[in-house]
Amino acid sequence: MSDVDPQVQNDELLAASVARHLRERGVVWDAPILAFAELTSTNDRVKALARGGAREWTSVVARRQTRGRGRQGRVWASPPGNLYLSCLLRPDDQAALNLLPLAAGVAVCESVREWGLAVSLKWPNDALVGERKLAGVLVEASSSSHGLEHVVIGIGVNLDWDPAQVPELAATATSVRAAGGCTPEVGPAAAALLAHLAPAYGLLLRDPQGTLAAWRERAAPWWGERVQVEAAGSLLCGSLRDVDDRGALLVEDDDGRLHRLFSGEVARLRPASTV
Ligand code: BTN
Repeated sequence: MSDVDPQVQNDELLAASVARHLRERGVVWDAPILAFAELTSTNDRVKALARGGAREWTSVVARRQTRGRGRQGRVWASPPGNLYLSCLLRPDDQAALNLLPLAAGVAVCESVREWGLAVSLKWPNDALVGERKLAGVLVEASSSSHGLEHVVIGIGVNLDWDPAQVPELAATATSVRAAGGCTPEVGPAAAALLAHLAPAYGLLLRDPQGTLAAWRERAAPWWGERVQVEAAGSLLCGSLRDVDDRGALLVEDDDGRLHRLFSGEVARLRPASTV
């Protein structure tokens, strides 16, 4: 795999910790789990592994990232102490891909609840404590003329970090520690995420409606509220109605027209009251 930087340092202790905590949870994980002290981005590493033919569910954890990415090309602050995890999936249809961000959001929500925090999901998959963001998911798909090749699902959870150190995030982000949760080490946190992600993906493949129901149960209670959505360079104000079967957000504008928005095109969604 020539596009993988050979200089990056493996973190065997972290890999062993993830494996041990999965075993302790009774989870059988038969794909590789690789851990590193530092990477540019765990998503980049999994993409490189995918191009080399890696097995489904190959997973990568890093203690820090130097070029962590968020949705819509945003930077994901990645200091040590937080969780940076990416997994390789190979779903065979677009329908599963559309709902994957929602399934991942459910897995994040279940993991964070183990650490004593009440979280809700903001579409498509931000985990919020109150109105502050604790975790995010970045799903990146790669296709060829033969169709969908692979999907990388990257999850960042702020664990042991004080977002107040970053002025532009101080008012909008939080961490498990800052929110008063029981802060896990990175190894058990990654194991919890993987342990919840696998059944969430299983549910998605056999019962997509079940995934939608699970997501709705955990969604922030904004239905009917006025929101402002930035999508494809324009601003839409309206009432939040629902998510449809493909995981798209339905927003009704002031003329009663229903807009269907996919996660890839929405740059920002917020309650109009906070704008
Ligand atoms: C978002 O809410 O904007 C998504 C954030 C996703 C961050 C994670 S951290 C692990 C993986 N590697 C990255 O570079 N990004 C994702």
